[in-house]
Amino acid sequence: MSNILVVNGPNLNLLGKREPSIYGNKSLEELNDHLKNLASELKLNLQFFQSNSEGDIIDYIHNNGFDANGMIINPGAFTHYSYAIRDAVSAVGIITVEVHLSNIYDREEFRKKSVIAPVCSGSIVGFGYYGYAMALSYFADNKHKDKDE
Ligand code: DQA
Repeated sequence: MSNILVVNGPNLNLLGKREPSIYGNKSLEELNDHLKNLASELKLNLQFFQSNSEGDIIDYIHNNGFDANGMIINPGAFTHYSYAIRDAVSAVGIITVEVHLSNIYDREEFRKKSVIAPVCSGSIVGFGYYGYAMALSYFADNKHKDKDE
């Protein structure tokens, strides 16, 4: 079965409480539960991780990325400046979808640049938690691209 990592970066543990007009009312736990339900219908296995620390995110990608079939990553504010997370994504070389709840192109200038996007297969921005579900739908339809399928 396809094994997909779902990695969320800093401040995303505050989903639901944090600026709900931008990031929505669902908590991270509710989002993950929703994704778990979808994944069981789509026959995908999800592995969830959230951290506020750049190094922990990098270690997680190193330790789990090589054995996974794909990754969904919302790097939070690290999106805009973490070359180290970019290099970790690039190093493991799996299909990676960058997701942002908000439309980063319609916000402050500093958010308009993602240093992670160029090493991802694609990005989904501005659709709230649906962005993660859209990424799952991609992985469900592309299992034939898995190394072990
Ligand atoms: C975010 C956008 C980032 O600019 C911000 O720092 C976040 C969340 C999003 O999902 O819209 O923490 O990644």
